[in-house]
Amino acid sequence: MSDKGNMERDRITLYMKLWYKKVIKKCIVFVASKSKTEVDIPRAPCHLILNEQRDLRTNGTNITNTGSRESVEDFQRSESNGRQCNRSVASSGRQHNLNMSLAVASAFILTSAAAIYWYVNRHKPLKYILSELRYAIDMQGAGVGGLIDDWVNIRRNRIVLPDAGRKIAVVTGGARGIGSEVVRGLLKSNVFVIAGVRKPESMKKLADNMENGENLIAFPLDLQSLKSVKQFAQNVMDRFPTIHFLVNNAGIMYGDYHVTEDGFENQLAVNHLSHFYLTHLLLPALKRGGTIGEAARVVNVSSCAHYPGQIYFDDINMKEHFDTTAAYAQSKLAQLMSARYINKMLEEDGCAVNAYSVHPGIVDTDLFEKTMFKKAFPWAMKLFFKTPAKGAVPILFACFDKSIERRGGLYISNCTEGISNKFSKKLDHQKKLFEISCELVGIEVNNFGKA
Ligand SMILES: NC(=O)c1ccc[n+]([C@@H]2O[C@H](COP(=O)([O-])OP(=O)(O)OC[C@H]3O[C@@H](n4cnc5c(N)ncnc54)[C@H](OP(=O)(O)O)[C@@H]3O)[C@@H](O)[C@H]2O)c1
Repeated sequence: MSDKGNMERDRITLYMKLWYKKVIKKCIVFVASKSKTEVDIPRAPCHLILNEQRDLRTNGTNITNTGSRESVEDFQRSESNGRQCNRSVASSGRQHNLNMSLAVASAFILTSAAAIYWYVNRHKPLKYILSELRYAIDMQGAGVGGLIDDWVNIRRNRIVLPDAGRKIAVVTGGARGIGSEVVRGLLKSNVFVIAGVRKPESMKKLADNMENGENLIAFPLDLQSLKSVKQFAQNVMDRFPTIHFLVNNAGIMYGDYHVTEDGFENQLAVNHLSHFYLTHLLLPALKRGGTIGEAARVVNVSSCAHYPGQIYFDDINMKEHFDTTAAYAQSKLAQLMSARYINKMLEEDGCAVNAYSVHPGIVDTDLFEKTMFKKAFPWAMKLFFKTPAKGAVPILFACFDKSIERRGGLYISNCTEGISNKFSKKLDHQKKLFEISCELVGIEVNNFGKA
């Protein structure tokens, strides 16, 4: 490791040691101060001194007989109050103890977790450790935010499927999860569906169980390969020179660092670059399908996970430093930004094609396979997440809803405008991403969509 790297590591070690010392010292001071309060707790906050209490206990009846009933009753009342008081003080003492134990246990767990995290990652520069920590926390935030949004907007997440009169749709990844429900919805609306899947034979069984299943065909498509994308687009165009919807749905989340045959980071390739390339290849057919007043539609299935993301323009394939969470966020952000930029370009060219991006919701699918959450709380996914059918609703909304005809570029969540991050709104960022994406997949910027 370089001198600079060693110095940085020493600095972190020193910082962690100081932090540990500080935390432990604070805990000890806190425990000591609390246990002192414990000792000081009055055991009998009764106004009678002990001897008087004893006298009254033994002579109580006599005193009553001599007419001092009031003093006895006073005493008995105060004694019972005292007992109650003692009990409540004891219970508040116990509460203090419990709070203390919880505080110490939490501090211990947090510091241990931080220490283990730091130890495992101690070879990494501080900026990467902090960035990973930020992504880990922000991604949980985005997930919880997404869940709350799903519950708050539960009534909005609806669509009445129209009769689309045998329009043609291309859907990537229709064999399972949200994609298969999108296919079901499109078929129900009388749309002819071409699914791009890795195993076309798997669609046969699905088609048998769907209304209008005879209107579904599948071609092989592996989004890890640009060659496969090109072949798929060719297959589609050969048979269907005009199409009306392109739903870029297929996706992967997390996993180890893997570079595709084209040299791209896997999540970027599958989620963004291949769909970007497919859009370019199918745009001529989409342009033929769109009419003024009823534009053809490109729907990028993005995610609320774009929110903590940014585009690493200088290292988009994350060769220098790979964080799987950041890679997923980047790829989903790229889908959202591309939809905005492509839509703007098409609008300027006067083409009747709109592009949208959609967050389907937090949906119980295999996408979470590689997450700790699925392993730890599979029941919570069943309980709190949307079903794939509900996750398909905002995507079908993006395909069919008339009210968004003039709102191309929209980011949709639960059939309404979703909250997208600041980074995605900057035009110069969108343009830069568009240019880098063109360069990576080998298209001339001015030739996009004119294949
Ligand atoms: N589930 C959620 O909570 C959630 C939230 C936000 C966004 N999304 C997005 O929604 C989309 C659908 O996800 P899902 O939840 O339905 O996930 P899923 O159940 O895991 O389905 C993923 C789909 O993508 C396909 N796919 C994966 N790698 C592929 C490749 N290399 N080539 C071709 N197809 C490939 C899979 O096809 P195979 O059957 O061949 O593997 C499968 O059909 C994704 O883009 C995801 O990012 C999901």
